Amino acid sequence: MIRAKDTTWLLLICLLIGQFYVRTHGTPIDETKDDYQDDDYYSDNEEDPLEDETPPVVDTPAARPYFEESDLRIEAKPGDDVVLNCDVRNFMINNAVMWYKNTTMIVNGNTAVVPRFEAMKNNSIFLQNVTPADSENYYCVILPQDVRQRTTLRVGARLSILCDDRDITDRSQTFRQGDHHKLECRTYLPGEPTIKWSFNGIRIESSPSDEEKGVIVLDNIDDVNAGVYQCLADDGSHDPPHGMVTIDVQYSPKVSTHRHHVNTEEGGFAEVYCNYRANPIARSFFVKEGKTIQLSEKYSLRDSVHNGHNRTTLIIRDVEESDLGEYLCHVENAIGYNEVKVHVSYKPETPQFEDMKLEGTKVTMHWLVRSLQPLSEAMLDYKLSGSYTWSTVSVLETHRHNQTGGIWKITHQLDLPRRGMWHARVKTKNPYGWSNFSPDHDFTIQADGEGSYEPSDADLPPDQIVQAGIGLGGRGTASALAQMPLGGVILAALLLRQIRQL
Ligand SMILES: *[C@@H]1O[C@H](CO)[C@@H](O)[C@H](O)[C@H]1NC(C)=O
Ligand SMILES: *[C@@H]1O[C@H](CO)[C@@H](O)[C@H](O)[C@H]1NC(C)=O
Ligand SMILES: *[C@@H]1O[C@H](CO)[C@@H](O)[C@H](O)[C@H]1NC(C)=O
Ligand SMILES: *[C@@H]1O[C@H](CO)[C@@H](O)[C@H](O)[C@H]1NC(C)=O
Repeated sequence: MIRAKDTTWLLLICLLIGQFYVRTHGTPIDETKDDYQDDDYYSDNEEDPLEDETPPVVDTPAARPYFEESDLRIEAKPGDDVVLNCDVRNFMINNAVMWYKNTTMIVNGNTAVVPRFEAMKNNSIFLQNVTPADSENYYCVILPQDVRQRTTLRVGARLSILCDDRDITDRSQTFRQGDHHKLECRTYLPGEPTIKWSFNGIRIESSPSDEEKGVIVLDNIDDVNAGVYQCLADDGSHDPPHGMVTIDVQYSPKVSTHRHHVNTEEGGFAEVYCNYRANPIARSFFVKEGKTIQLSEKYSLRDSVHNGHNRTTLIIRDVEESDLGEYLCHVENAIGYNEVKVHVSYKPETPQFEDMKLEGTKVTMHWLVRSLQPLSEAMLDYKLSGSYTWSTVSVLETHRHNQTGGIWKITHQLDLPRRGMWHARVKTKNPYGWSNFSPDHDFTIQADGEGSYEPSDADLPPDQIVQAGIGLGGRGTASALAQMPLGGVILAALLLRQIRQL
C-alpha cells in the first residue's frame, strides 16, 4: 500500500502527466481513435447513464486518455486477492476514474461506493477474498471522454466436476453404451483436500493404482454406470465443497427370460416370457420360424413390470404339435436390439436348484422341475472339482403319478467323504423325453466336515408350491455305491416328489 505517500504520489502523477501532455500535444495517436471506436459498451445503448453527467468539454484529440488494451481477462481461484488495473495513458488533471461492475458503479473517483472494493491511488481497485459471485465484467471508465477498459474476472468454483475437461458440476449428462469418459473432481483449495467420490450414495474407494487423483475413468460404459456421482473435497472443515452429476446411459435392450424351456401339453396353453430393460424406451415382438407373431385367437400378449425390468408374455392357446419349437423375442430401441430364444415343448423344463442343507458330510439338495406330464425318471450327477467324470445316481425307471400337472420337487441326499469343492446337476425325463441338465450347483465340504455354499441365484418357478411327497430310494443308493470313484461309503437317496398346485 502507498497510503503514507498519497499526496506525494498524486503530485508526482500530475507532474508526469502534465509533462506527457505537453510533449504529445498536437501529435494524433491512432490507437486513441481505435480505442474510442472499439468502445461499444454504450454505443448502442441510448440510455447511457454516464452521458448526462458528462460535461461538454472541448476534447483535444491528441490529449485523449487511452488504454493500450481495451479487454483484459483475470482468472482467479476462490479466496484469492485480486487487483484490477486501470493503466490509462494520457491521464489528465481534469480526468476522473469510475469503476463499474457490469452496470453497477463501484468506485467514483477514488472512493469505493460498494463494500469490499478498495480504490487505489494508481486507479486500480483491490478486491479481497474473491468468490465465484465476483465473476463479472468490470469497466474502468475515464471521464469526461468516456474511454473505458473492460476486465473480465472469472473466479472458478471451489470444486468442479469435469467430464472430458468440460465443467458439468450439478448438471446431468447422457452417455451412450460403449462410450469412454473421464470424470474429474477438481478443487481450488489451499492444502491437500481428500477427494471422495461416491456413486448412488456408496463411496467409491480409490485404488492406489489410480493414475490421477480425483479421476474416475468410465470404460465401455453400460447401464450399470448410470446414476448420481458425487464428489466431496474433504478439507477438514464443517462445510467441505461438494458437487454432483447425474449420468444417464442409453443402451440397447438387455433381454432375458427366466424360462428358456417351457413345458406344455396338447390342448393346453403355454406362456413365453421375455424380460427386458432398455433406455430409451424399447418395443418388443415375437418371431416363430422367421415370421412375426400377430395377435389372434391363438396368440395374445401381456405387458407387466417386475422389479426393475419390463416383461412381455406371449400366451399360446390350444397348443398343438405345430406350436412346439423355438420362439424368438426381439426387443429394439434407438440404440440397437437384442433377442432371446425360448423353446416350447412337451419335455420337462430344465430343473432349477432350490436349496440345500449340509450336516457334517451329509448333503441334502432340492431341485424343482416343471412338467405337466408325469416324471418317469431323474438323474443326478456329481463330482469333485478337478475330476473328469461324473458319478451318476439314477432312480425311477417309470413312475406314474396321478396328478394334474405342475411342479415337481427332487430331493437327494449324499454322504460325501472328501472335502473340497463339489458339483452337482440334475435332469429329468417324462414320456416325451429328457430335460436339459440343470446348471451345475457348486458347494464346498470344509476340512472339519462343515460346509458352505454360494446360494444359487436361479429364479424359482413363480407359481404357488405345495409339497405332496412320494418317497423313493434304493436304486439310487446302489448305483451311487457302484460308481463312487473314491471308494468311500456313500449314502444316497433320491427323493422325487410331486408338488401339486394349489
Ligand atoms: C497499482 O498498485 C497496485 C498496488 O501497489 C499494484 O499491484 C498494481 O500493479 C498497480 N497498477 C499499475 C497499473 O501499476
Ligand atoms: C449485466 O447487467 C445487465 C443489466 O442489468 C444484465 O442483463 C446482464 O445479465 C449482466 N451481465 C452479467 C454478466 O451479469
Ligand atoms: C417399461 O416400459 C415402460 C413403457 O412401456 C417404460 O416407461 C419403462 O421405462 C420401461 N421400464 C424399463 C425398466 O425398461
Ligand atoms: C386320479 O385320481 C382321480 C381321483 O382321485 C381319479 O378320478 C382318476 O381316475 C385318477 N387317474 C389316474 C390316471 O389314476
